[in-house]
Amino acid sequence: MAEKLLEIRNLKQYFNQGKPNEVRAVDDISFDIYKGETLGLVGESGCGKSTTGRTIIRLYDATDGQVIYDGIDVHDKKSKKDLKSFNRKMQMIFQDPYASLNPRMKVLDIIAEGLDIHGLVKNPKERKERVVELLETVGLNREHADRYAHEFSGGQRQRLGIARALAVNPEFIIADEPISALDVSIQAQVVNLLKELQEEKGLTYLFIAHDLSMVKYISDRIGVMYFGKLVELAPAEDLYNNPMHPYTQSLLSAIPLPDPNYERTRVRKSYDPASHNYQDGEEIAMREVTPGHFVYCSEKEFTTLQAISG
Ligand SMILES: Nc1ncnc2c1ncn2[C@@H]1O[C@H](COP(=O)(O)OP(=O)(O)O)[C@@H](O)[C@H]1O
Ligand SMILES: [Mg+2]
Repeated sequence: MAEKLLEIRNLKQYFNQGKPNEVRAVDDISFDIYKGETLGLVGESGCGKSTTGRTIIRLYDATDGQVIYDGIDVHDKKSKKDLKSFNRKMQMIFQDPYASLNPRMKVLDIIAEGLDIHGLVKNPKERKERVVELLETVGLNREHADRYAHEFSGGQRQRLGIARALAVNPEFIIADEPISALDVSIQAQVVNLLKELQEEKGLTYLFIAHDLSMVKYISDRIGVMYFGKLVELAPAEDLYNNPMHPYTQSLLSAIPLPDPNYERTRVRKSYDPASHNYQDGEEIAMREVTPGHFVYCSEKEFTTLQAISG
């Protein structure tokens, strides 16, 4: 059995709590992330994927719940002395490589930022060499160190974002739609780079995407979010071959496939949350229908799903 790196327990992130404009961006979700895996997180825009990632990495304080990293609750004020080491161990790669890199800074200084903060290099020469090494790791080179971020293409900027994240030797990387802003022709290159780096360095990824096709390719397991809730979590193949929650089924039915025969018969399913017809007091929770395949459902739905799954 794989080792857990992170345990997310009943995590909540409410914005404007108690006010008329309260948003329950993340509403009581629980899941584990295993060492060395890629957990994909999908769902339509606004369902809470980024907020989940940002809360895990503590860009936001959690409204409630725990994020346990290697046995330590990172949101617990008592773990303060460990926080600096968590800052190093967890890194984030952002969606928009244009917005996330300061265009007026030299690449050398952008990538060395983490090295400086964590005191990982002794002198300017070592700093430069480490940056060059990182540039080469992501498919760039020494000459790029003295240029400015605005001189790079989208794909190259995302490589810079990856190099910056790698600088501090993290264990866990949250990639928040890292390829959504890139040309389709570049997307696979960046995904392949992330996969190679994962193998080389034993990294663990939380890979956020709204596009189900790329996430299938990179993920070991996939979680599906809907309005702040995690509604299904399963091994990637299993989720695609046997989606159990009606929302997951609707998401999958929306993916066009290159097969024209399939396309002729593809039926787009829509999801209506009212169709569950839950009764007052019914407990809706993540339940394990088949090994490792969790669905957010009532006891009654669970029984039906189990019967169907034989
Ligand atoms: N800082 C914020 N303040 C208030 N509401 C926010 C903030 N960030 C996100 N939201 C809201 O939380 C919900 C989830 O947003 P987000 O996590 O960005 O979704 P996703 O990444 O899945 O597109 C949305 O309704 C969004 O408008
Ligand atoms: Mg987002």
